[in-house]
Amino acid sequence: MAMSIMRRVLLAGSHSPWLERQVRSRAITRQAVRRFMPGEELSDALDAGSALAQRGMGVVLTQLGEHTDSPTQADAVRDHYQSVLRDIAARGLPAAISVKLTQLGLVLGDPTSDDACVERVLALARPAPARGERVWIDMEESPLTERTLRVYERVHAAGGRVGLCLQAYLRRTAADLERLRPLRPAVRLVKGAYREPPDVAFPAKRDVDANYRTLGMRLIEMAARGEAEPPVFGTHDVALARALLAHASAQGLAPTACEIHMLYGIRGAEQARLAAEGVRVRVLVSYGRAWFAWYMRRLAERPANVWFAIRGVAGG
Ligand code: FDA
Repeated sequence: MAMSIMRRVLLAGSHSPWLERQVRSRAITRQAVRRFMPGEELSDALDAGSALAQRGMGVVLTQLGEHTDSPTQADAVRDHYQSVLRDIAARGLPAAISVKLTQLGLVLGDPTSDDACVERVLALARPAPARGERVWIDMEESPLTERTLRVYERVHAAGGRVGLCLQAYLRRTAADLERLRPLRPAVRLVKGAYREPPDVAFPAKRDVDANYRTLGMRLIEMAARGEAEPPVFGTHDVALARALLAHASAQGLAPTACEIHMLYGIRGAEQARLAAEGVRVRVLVSYGRAWFAWYMRRLAERPANVWFAIRGVAGG
């Protein structure tokens, strides 16, 4: 109960410009943020990616930021990611990118922004001969779920190589999975990170965990029948991920068919252990200056992180 109040407070705080100013202006909180990101520059993320690759892990790179204000800014984000794809190729990194549609011009309240957003995603996701990786689409707040699905469907129909994040806390996700089935979708399943009303998302963590398990098993069964790509489990819940991997092998999927994706700085020892066991692990590495809302969501996922951050401040 106390945990869920804390979670709500932190997620509400993620929208506060005042709190953002307080947090950003303190060198010490910037230091605490470094736990979850190797640095603000793309080069920091690429270097972290190279180090992870040496330890047998792939990476997914994402530039922090959401809700761009203008088509010009959205075009700049697209151009930035095109240069990231060139850098990835130049370094020969086992890396993909993950994008937020509101960074690529999907504007809340303006359905006409969708067409341009589709074009920007396609500019990144049209298969290039040298690039086998798909572009991952993050899932944001629930008022954007329907439009995010539609963008995914349109990019997919136009031949873009894309994967979509689905959130197990949403009541609608089981139906969304059914809807996507004819596309043989590539899905990264996560629990869900935003503040949502109870009629939209399961409020109790145990229900979210149970739905994650159900959806994960369904995805595996779809993949075994050729109705979906082998799924990606975006979670630090290692026991749950291992149970799903066991189900995948019981369904006849190859041991390396499914992937586990985790965030940089969270359960690093488990990431390395799974990779050493031969599981395909990728680490999502974030970079950029717009880290405030994202950092608040990381604190909300595990309110004990707040005490780590405070201890860091107190300890200097
Ligand atoms: P859970 O919350 O049950 O945590 C399991 C264990 O992991 C905890 O007991 C704890 O030990 C550890 N842990 C989890 N979070 C931690 C943290 N922040 N700090 C320290 N330890 C932590 N969400 C979304 O809405 N849209 C999206 O597009 C994405 N994309 C995405 C990609 C990838 C690769 C990952 C891993 C996650 C996301 N998420 C996301 C975030 C996701 O929805 C969810 O909020 C977090 O992954 C936390 O939930 P877990 O599944 O890890 O389980």
